[in-house]
Amino acid sequence: MVGHERLICSSAELVDGGDGVRFQVTRQGGSLPAFVVRWRAMPYAYVNECQHQSTELDWNAGDFFDESKLYLMCATHGALYDPGSGLCVSGPCHGARLTPVKVCERDGGIFCAEDG
Ligand code: FES
Repeated sequence: MVGHERLICSSAELVDGGDGVRFQVTRQGGSLPAFVVRWRAMPYAYVNECQHQSTELDWNAGDFFDESKLYLMCATHGALYDPGSGLCVSGPCHGARLTPVKVCERDGGIFCAEDG
């Protein structure tokens, strides 16, 4: 196990294309809201901040995917982000990217690095 990892949730909690899990991530000495989702079997995590107006993406806590389950959607103005890269593919911040958070899955859990 790497030094500063923290358990976010169990692997079983993250269903492919289902609800995400919100958590706080430490960045540059501060704490930011973040989330992790499972998409095409892999966990992906990002700072929970839309690149349009810095609002959190989920209107209902944990509800990040659009109806097609192909994109992450900002509930405020409907920007769509690719779940695997964080790239905005549609909406007012087209071409911008969500800020990634490093996570890994092992031993039945999803872990994040405290400063990554
Ligand atoms: S704040 Fe996210 S699309 Fe406008």
